[in-house]
Parts: sequence; C-alpha cells; structure tokens
Amino acid sequence: MSDRLFIFDTTLRDGEQVPGCQLNTVEKIQVAKQLELLGVDVIEAGFPISSPGDFNSVIEISKAVTWPTICALTRAVQKDIDVAADALKYAKHKRIHTGIGTSDEHIKYKFNSNREEIIERAVAAVKYAKKYVDDVEFYAEDAGRTDNEYLARVVEAVIKAGATVVNIPDTTGYCLPSEYGEKIKYLMEHVDGIDRAVISTHCHNDLGMATANTMAGVLNGARQVEVTINGIGERAGNTSLEEVAMILKCHKHIGIDTNINTQKIYPTSRMVSSLMNMPVQPNKAIVGRNAFAHSSGIHQDGVLKNVQTYEIIDPHDVGIDDNSIVLTARSGRAALKNRLHVLGIDLEQDKLDKVYEDFLKLADKKKDINDDDILVLAGADRSQNHRIKVDYLQVTSGVGVHSVASLGLDISGEKFEACASGNGPVDAAIKALKKIINRQMTLKEFTIQAISKGSDDMGKVHMQVEYDGHVYYGFGANTDIIAASVEAYIDCINKFKL
Ligand code: KIV
Ligand code: ZN
Repeated sequence: MSDRLFIFDTTLRDGEQVPGCQLNTVEKIQVAKQLELLGVDVIEAGFPISSPGDFNSVIEISKAVTWPTICALTRAVQKDIDVAADALKYAKHKRIHTGIGTSDEHIKYKFNSNREEIIERAVAAVKYAKKYVDDVEFYAEDAGRTDNEYLARVVEAVIKAGATVVNIPDTTGYCLPSEYGEKIKYLMEHVDGIDRAVISTHCHNDLGMATANTMAGVLNGARQVEVTINGIGERAGNTSLEEVAMILKCHKHIGIDTNINTQKIYPTSRMVSSLMNMPVQPNKAIVGRNAFAHSSGIHQDGVLKNVQTYEIIDPHDVGIDDNSIVLTARSGRAALKNRLHVLGIDLEQDKLDKVYEDFLKLADKKKDINDDDILVLAGADRSQNHRIKVDYLQVTSGVGVHSVASLGLDISGEKFEACASGNGPVDAAIKALKKIINRQMTLKEFTIQAISKGSDDMGKVHMQVEYDGHVYYGFGANTDIIAASVEAYIDCINKFKL
C-alpha cells in the first residue's frame, strides 16, 4: 500500500508575494477553483492581517471552494490569529498557520529574544489558535538554519500544545538536500509525539535546490509539501507543485501518492502564468514550452521510433494536448464559453459578451485561437478602467530608415497627440508616449514573448518602469508587439501613485 502525501499549495500566499504578481479577489477565486480541480489538499489563501484585500480574499475563497482545507497565515500574535479565524469563518475545512522564527539569526536580530522565550511564544500561539480551530499548523521560520536539537524541542512543544502539522521551512533556500533530509529524519527520530502531527516541507529555491530538498524531506518522513504552481514565489521562488507530483508519478517505486490529477497541471500552469503576468521560463521542468520539444536530430530520430527512448513523461499525462487549438473566427459564443469553462473560467453574461467581441477581433487577425490567447482575453478587462488609453498608434520602421511613431492618447476623455523618432519602433513609440506623459520615468525591464507559435501570434509584453522611487509592473498583449509594448508602458503609468 502506498503512503499519501498531502499537497499544500501556497501560490496564493507565498507565490503571490512576488512584486507585480498580485491578483484581485476574482482572480484569486479563479485560481483557487482550479487548484481544487487539480486536487490539492490545502490552499493557503492569504495572510489576513496583512491587508483588507487579503482578508477579503480568504473569505471569498472559503465560500467558493468545497473540498480543500483553506489555510490562513499568521505571526505568533493574538491579533493576527483573531483576524485569521474571522477570515476563515465560511471555510468548510479550516486551518490556521501560525509560527515564529527559530534560528539564532531570527531570535537575536528579529525578536531580540532568547530560545526559551521563543518556545513559550510558539506554544502560546498554537494554544490560542486551537481555541478557534482544531487544525493548527505551526511554522518554525528559518528552520533550515536552526540547529536540529533546538528545533526538535520547538517541534515537541508545539505538538504537545496541539499542532496538527509542523512546517519546517528552509526560508532562505540555504540547505543542501542531504542536510534538509537529515533534519527531517532527526525530527522523526527525536521528537516525542511526532506521530501525532504531520511534518511539512517548505523549501525556497535560492540555490536551485527547492525540489531536491522537498524530495529529501519526503524520503525521510515528511508527509506534506508546501509548493506553488510554476514554482513562483519571492526571489528564486518556492518548490514547484508540478515537479513533486510528477517525480512521485514517475518514480512509483517510492510508494508515495498524491491526490493530484496530473492532467490538470498544464492548464493550471497556464492560468497562473497568465493571471499573474509571470512568464514561465521555456526550459522549466514539466510546464516550460520546451519541456517536451526534442530538437537534436538524434533525439528526434529516437522519439519517432519510440517515444520512450527520450521521453520519461507522456505530455498528455500533464494535460498538454496538441489538439487544444480549437477556436477560429467561425466558433460561436457557446464554444468560447465551453473552452473557458474547461480552463476553469466561468464568466457572467456581460463579461462573456465582451470577451467574445475581443475574441472575434483577434480571430480576424489570427487564424487559430489557442488556450493562452483565451486566457489573455479573459483577463483583459483589468485595463478597462484605466485613465489613460491608446486612441491610435502609427509606426514606420524598416532597414535603412529611422523609425517614427505618431501616438494618440485618451486621458480621462481628453485627447493628446505626439510624434517622435527613435532607434527602433518601440523606442519611437515610447518617446512619443513620454512627450505626452512628461514625467521622470525609467524603463527598468522589458520582455517580449510570443504566446505560442506562428507569425500571426499574440505578443505578451512585461515591463517594469521606475517612477518617483517605486517600480511599477505592466503588461500588454497584442498581435502587434509595438502596440503591446505601449500598452504595457501605459499599464505601468496607470498604476503610478500620483
Ligand atoms: O518561507 C517561510 O518561512 C514562510 C513561512 C511564513 C511559512 O513562508
Ligand atoms: Zn516561504
């Protein structure tokens, strides 16, 4: 009989902390429902005391989702726990995730405290959370750099206080897989009452070892993993859900199963990437565009003879379906509605009408509309209420000529126009834009990515613009990449705190 590993998804909490990736409540509900379809056991829906937006998202996700446990993060502080319990009031299955730093660095510099006092605070927080919910998870922040003997004392104390799950985060992504595995093994062997709680991994990818560390934890007794879709998360990110799920599926001999419906992995990855405006690196394991693309002649020859020569995963097992390019200009509203539903998006009639209108415009320019295009269209209303909109844009460019752009903007109903030349079409268009919006702004990052393939494809543009000491993130998508670039720049400007 195989063992069961619980999948705790923190895309909407640790993942969402990435600058520029913030979602609104409607988008978070969309992701949460997709995570439910994917089969995750726990959804960490937010950190309710941190903002009214997070508080509200935990409430709404609790209402929208049935099977997974909804978890809310707190510090080891009573007020945090009160607010988290309130936010979880509609959850069918609820968990409070409370904790405190346990490494000497955290104890000394963050809390100006000592080891004994930290244990007291940890125990008090767990006991306090237990007044509200049965299921209390404790995290020992920076456990990766906490010595094992002291960590074991903390874990024993919080289990005694009632913690049902104990999370051992490698907060800084510092541990080697052998060290992290040893840490979990040490706890399994030295903590009295360890069988009364589930030990959880929570690994960060600063040294590219998050998945390896998570697996080392699992192989040594952890039975919950904290992961995110596409491995998104602060800095270098968190452990990828899809990697852990597929490792266990490919290595059946390990004898550990999850509840993940792996065929939902790819659609979920696309949805999160699209809503968070966070491109997936092409060579990302499992979900990257090139993950199943064989380009060397030797590999192609082998795969044509028998896919098993070079492929350890059948792309269909993770939901990559070559036939998913289904919609064209002749597809009706019902087909679009159905495809959106398959992608986990159910729209109200007026929103569906708007997306269908945009779909027809896009289908005029592009023969096949794929799932990524549809996800971009469904998320497009994020720019509808923008103060600044493009009225028109005309650019001439080519080899041996200077690029020139004329741009018309509508700013809260008033019309503005400008012309500029530049060393390329994007440069010319942005210079024209800066003539109208005359502020000290600096373009810090600029990426253009085709959504799938074909010269008629949509281009997605991500930008970071610095203004008045802050960095703003913007996104644009258009079959014309110059227009997408201007849209992304304007998306940043529309977010300026003025
Ligand atoms: O990385 C970390 O330590 C965390 C905790 C708050 C669980 O995200
Ligand atoms: Zn974390």
